[in-house]
Amino acid sequence: MPVVFEKCAEDGTSFFLLNTPNSSYIISVLENGIVSHSGWSRRIEKWSGNSAIWKTDRGVNLPPDLDPRNLSLDTVPQEYSTAGKSDFRPGAIELALNDGTHTLDLRYFSHDIIEEKPQLEGLPATYSVNSGEVETVALKLKDTKYDIFVTLFYAVWAERDVICRWVKIENKTDGKIKIEKVMSACIDFAGSDYKMLQMSGSWGRERKVYMRDLVPGTQSIESRRGSSSHHHNPFVALLSEDASEDSGEVFGFNFVYSGNFEARIDVDYMESARFSMGINPYNFSWNLEAGASFTAPEVVMVYSKDGLGAMSRTFHDLYRERLCRGEWKDKPRPIVINNWEATYFDFDEKKLCVLADAAKDAGVEMFVLDDGWFGNRFDDRRALGDWVVNTQKLKGGLSYIVSEMKKRGLGFGLWVEPEMVSPESELFKAHPDWCIHIPGREMYLARTQLMLDLSRKEVTDYLFETLSGVFASADISYIKWDFNRYMTDAYSEGLETEQQQEVAYRYVLGLYSLLERLTAKFPHILFESCASGGGRFDPGILYYMPQIWTSDNTDALSRISIQAGTTLVYPPSAMSCHVSAVPNHQTGRITPLAQRAFTAMAGTYGYELDMTKLTKEEIAQIAEYSNLYKKIRYIVQSGDLYRLVSPWEKSDKVEKYAAWMNVSKDKSFAVVTVSWVYAEALAPKIVLKLKGLDGNADYKDLKSGKIYSAKELMYYGLLLANLWPGNASEQILLVRV
Ligand code: GLA
Repeated sequence: MPVVFEKCAEDGTSFFLLNTPNSSYIISVLENGIVSHSGWSRRIEKWSGNSAIWKTDRGVNLPPDLDPRNLSLDTVPQEYSTAGKSDFRPGAIELALNDGTHTLDLRYFSHDIIEEKPQLEGLPATYSVNSGEVETVALKLKDTKYDIFVTLFYAVWAERDVICRWVKIENKTDGKIKIEKVMSACIDFAGSDYKMLQMSGSWGRERKVYMRDLVPGTQSIESRRGSSSHHHNPFVALLSEDASEDSGEVFGFNFVYSGNFEARIDVDYMESARFSMGINPYNFSWNLEAGASFTAPEVVMVYSKDGLGAMSRTFHDLYRERLCRGEWKDKPRPIVINNWEATYFDFDEKKLCVLADAAKDAGVEMFVLDDGWFGNRFDDRRALGDWVVNTQKLKGGLSYIVSEMKKRGLGFGLWVEPEMVSPESELFKAHPDWCIHIPGREMYLARTQLMLDLSRKEVTDYLFETLSGVFASADISYIKWDFNRYMTDAYSEGLETEQQQEVAYRYVLGLYSLLERLTAKFPHILFESCASGGGRFDPGILYYMPQIWTSDNTDALSRISIQAGTTLVYPPSAMSCHVSAVPNHQTGRITPLAQRAFTAMAGTYGYELDMTKLTKEEIAQIAEYSNLYKKIRYIVQSGDLYRLVSPWEKSDKVEKYAAWMNVSKDKSFAVVTVSWVYAEALAPKIVLKLKGLDGNADYKDLKSGKIYSAKELMYYGLLLANLWPGNASEQILLVRV
């Protein structure tokens, strides 16, 4: 079993050895009940019990009756550090206690080993299905003065290099306490010889990969925007100095939460690195009444001894198999056409039908009607909240347009942005207090809209009823759920003054409960999340909606970088990608159709352009790409991804092209894609060394008919001499013979 617990008889210490297939994570309980972190690295079968505590005569000691003068919390690596005692580094938890202090002294109290992964109430999380798949250690700590209990959970996966951590705080005192900070995971690494990797960017430029060396002090990323945001993904990795795509140690951390978060690494004066991740303490506190408990969201921790590529594949499998849920989890995702870039707000039912005719000829399976179908929504300045069909634009309503799509053999999908309200809307007139705002302060608009107060039950109940009505009003099989502004003025008219710092967190809980109810009620609907593109691309969302619109930037070259970053953590099945028009609407760039199509085939595939403007030949070409995708989608959506050359690798060569491979789980089929990023007049030859093939087999290139041994392809490579700016991109299909 993955968890070993041992007591060392001689000195009263004990330890937990948490084993995944390739890693061990060791927790020591010291003689005085201090819970210390003893390491996380490659798998070992035995632990000597040596917790290798650094002793120093320069620190503030632990209680003198228990410890020698040279043992200080400041240098003891801890599992969950507290504030106010002799650890002066930023702690994982801060509670405002009844006596006016913030000091907490947590010691081992008890532990349980649970033969499954318990669910986190009201929160998205990975889940176990089969017995023996996960063992969970619930390690209970207690404050030395008060009846305050903090349980650290470690769900250890037997067949995956994954440990999931979360925390529960119980107030068993007879008064209220206030949680001011609660990190879900905290690890003290013994040294700081690591690189920190983060994915940052903006609207249209999401999840660019940045790496830096750790230095003393704080290096951190966060969101204060109410959602996980375009700006920093809730993901951080620490890489050993020699780590690369296929070698070296990598520790990946992803927060299963869609709101304000913080991930930080604090390097101290002994040059040890403390990693912590959790709810952003900014504008957060939680009133914990006597007898109440609080559970903080989960952090997924992945270990790889073989570089970033293996880390990504571990995340992908876990998220596909044990985070996503519902009927669409493993189903091939349909090829969609979305009318947004084709029509924007200017459409009626006739125009949509003409577009659908072209799309049908182009091999599309699902028509998605984007923004503008409801209320007085002729532009983006009004009508959010009025989820009633605009019959001026759509004569015959939704049922008519759905039946027209059905006649053409297409499914029908609809755009909604339920978390928002426009000041110019019937909903706002009826319930001006339902938006997030501070009474007496001017309301700040973004895209002329306000956020609804999802921390209030009456608001989520109203949305549940209204949306249920819309979803049931016609045969709708796909919903694009958008979210197009950030939170300001966090305040709820439904909460007391002292609870106002709970608003941002309660908002996300309200969103999760609404999504839970709607996805349960409409299990056949494929939900796709969106937040001005990829502004809420996180595992919390994936628990409810198995795919996410990756970015509003549909330019093929921009997408190569955005998508490569996204795949560091999120599986291709989660990444929604469309072929759009040229010149591209976001960048003005012209790229060949092949490059746009092959780039979009890296995820769940679709189109976002006015096909009525294309020639017959172009439609026929597009139909070929659709057919191709239908053949390879099971490999892209459920196979293994190998990045061959990634945009963030900075050598001269790789700045010029990117390449990746999708390989079916049984290794019988592989799709290799290569794409120029910076085209040269006379492009140098590319020798592409493949990965992930069955080393004992031969593979046939379906286009040329040539047969190669897998070893030749992996060790000597494929020579791509004819790839030049004119064709920019190539896809090679290999089948095992
Ligand atoms: C956001 C989305 C787009 C589109 C528009 C509609 O910007 O990211 O894909 O749906 O809203 O207003």
